[in-house]
Amino acid sequence: MDTDEETYILESDKQRLNSRLVFAFFSCVIGSSFVFGVHTGVVNLPQTKIEQFLNETELHRTGHHMTQSKITLLWALIVSIWAIGGMIGGVNAGYFADKLGRKKGLLLNNILTFLAVILFGFSKLALSYEMLIVGRFIAGIQCGISTGIAPLYLSEVAPLKLRGAAGTLNQLAIVFGVLISQIIGMDFILGTDKLWPILLSFPVIAAILQLLTFSLCPESPKYLYINKNDRYAAIRALQWLRSGDSFEEELQDMQIQGESCENTEKMSICGIFTTKWLRRPIFISIIMQLSQQLSGINAVIYYSTQIFRKTAHLTQTASQFASIGVSVVNFIITAISASLVDKAGRRYLHLLGLGGMFCAACALTTSFLWEVNDKYILILSTVNIE
Ligand SMILES: *[C@@H]1O[C@H](CO)[C@@H](O)[C@H](O)[C@H]1NC(C)=O
Repeated sequence: MDTDEETYILESDKQRLNSRLVFAFFSCVIGSSFVFGVHTGVVNLPQTKIEQFLNETELHRTGHHMTQSKITLLWALIVSIWAIGGMIGGVNAGYFADKLGRKKGLLLNNILTFLAVILFGFSKLALSYEMLIVGRFIAGIQCGISTGIAPLYLSEVAPLKLRGAAGTLNQLAIVFGVLISQIIGMDFILGTDKLWPILLSFPVIAAILQLLTFSLCPESPKYLYINKNDRYAAIRALQWLRSGDSFEEELQDMQIQGESCENTEKMSICGIFTTKWLRRPIFISIIMQLSQQLSGINAVIYYSTQIFRKTAHLTQTASQFASIGVSVVNFIITAISASLVDKAGRRYLHLLGLGGMFCAACALTTSFLWEVNDKYILILSTVNIE
């Protein structure tokens, strides 16, 4: 496997990053991975403002305030229903990616962003937290779909030499989205009593940007060749993407893959789990996913401001800055790992990250248990590596 890849790297040495490729990467992630990050991070800072809105809405409807436990429950629902939508979207992403294609799939997915944003934007005006819940659910479906398609597109349009880095672009855009959403979510920017609906609606800008830019990019050549069996269209897409560099080997590579695809029958989700030779790779993929998803970083991204305020007793503004600090570190580490991934190796980097996660999770739990007043331990331990 390794040696194979190395010879390919030598052959495709001439392929470099060109401005069109950068444009394609950018327009692919802006409406998908970036928006994913925004939806992840946006609930962190304005939590108290939106809880207040829940409280007021109840007062308006029933004449008395909402109980703390109902507020907590509704807030948890608003945060987490996004993940349920994400699962639904994620399961169906493959279908859309193959049926509509990567490009059309991602472009049409923006309809869901518009729907969600309309619900967010008018929820306060309509005095309806139900709209927030439904909006988060729709945003989740949108994010699930785009998480399935965007990395596929990124890796399919990238030349072999850049494939690892292209894969990390997805994560980089997510982390950048988290960071931006937290910056604009601060008390003195959009995280105010009046402006939080606009804050939640921020992804609409990214969606419009994607519609404007991604429409100019070609469909993934691999999809055109292998799924659509359209060699001519694939060549045209490669001509655009490689901007004058040669792509003969890539084309041959796709041809070989296309032929081997024709000979294998399509596999269903069940087939993946019951086929014997697939057991090991599937096991590895699941563990890899779990090791990232269960790292605890999501809890930190959703709730760090509250954690800093209630457990570390920072002021509201200080906790917001601390949350942003965590995101900045997260972004920098992701950028470094993006630039290292094709050199240092995926396995080594992941093990390093897991080691860091282990220490951070231990420190975080300890500080919760002992309610240590040492703010610095808490802040440091939420700086999770991924
Ligand atoms: C709801 O709002 C009222 C008035 O602003 C406040 O006194 C009460 O503590 C709030 N309830 C909760 C659970 O935050």
